[in-house]
Amino acid sequence: MIGKHYVLTGGTSGLGQSLLELLLKKQVHVTVLTRNPQKIEGKYDTSLLTVLKCDLQSQEQILNLKNQFDDKSIDGIIYSSGLGYFKSIEQHTTEEMLETYNLNVVNFNTLLATLQPFFSMFPTIVGIGSQSAFLTQAYAAHYGASKAAFNQVLNALRIEKPNYHVLTVNTGPIATPFHAKADPSLAFAQKYKSIMLDPNELAHKIIKGMLSTKQEINEPKWMHLFLRIYQIAPRFVEKHFTFLFKNKM
Ligand SMILES: NC(=O)c1ccc[n+]([C@@H]2O[C@H](COP(=O)([O-])OP(=O)(O)OC[C@H]3O[C@@H](n4cnc5c(N)ncnc54)[C@H](OP(=O)(O)O)[C@@H]3O)[C@@H](O)[C@H]2O)c1
Repeated sequence: MIGKHYVLTGGTSGLGQSLLELLLKKQVHVTVLTRNPQKIEGKYDTSLLTVLKCDLQSQEQILNLKNQFDDKSIDGIIYSSGLGYFKSIEQHTTEEMLETYNLNVVNFNTLLATLQPFFSMFPTIVGIGSQSAFLTQAYAAHYGASKAAFNQVLNALRIEKPNYHVLTVNTGPIATPFHAKADPSLAFAQKYKSIMLDPNELAHKIIKGMLSTKQEINEPKWMHLFLRIYQIAPRFVEKHFTFLFKNKM
């Protein structure tokens, strides 16, 4: 990885921040796209890091990035930005729904299309998805739906672009600031504290997956196995084990 150049989103917090720190340790050039450059500027004393201000809710700001990479080839995108609101379907405002789909799916696509002209021959695309893409979840409907869509976009990209290495990371709960934003009461975070993944450990696995050209990382494995079994008869399981699908509140 030494000397490669990745564009990273979500690098100011949680899993993205862990990934950033590992990449810099590995002597990788990283361009972080962030709406809050002050969160990161001056934090890392290295010439390997470039910070560009970009609100990923803004199509215009993403499209303007094409003027920032003139002479810099890009070896890949790591898309770790994401958000969700843990609330019922009717409690979601239109703005919250649009924010969720725009950040988690639509604007990933815009970013990809904007940066594609600068890609090296065999770029790596890492998408941080979620195990919630694989199950019905009350009180997190739009988050799960956006991650399911993201998953399918990445799967299609893998087929459309055989020269790309596309790595989808389907993760269960991680101990990050994500939860305070998704549900300020922290009800879910408190309840599932004991099964939360460590962002640094997950970041290590992702770097390993990038190096070994893995196509999918599913963590924790027991959760993914359960969700595979659930897929055999989802409506039956939802009907008879409803409590499992109402854990976001
Ligand atoms: N934590 C979990 O339990 C969990 C579980 C499954 C999947 N995931 C997924 O894992 C990924 C990483 O999440 P995390 O847990 O590390 O969450 P996090 O700590 O909340 O980090 C989210 C990142 O996204 C950035 N972001 C949000 N809105 C943005 C915008 N409009 N423009 C630019 N950047 C924006 C945030 O930037 P700011 O610093 O500016 O806010 C932050 O760096 C997400 O895709 C999330 O959906 C998380």
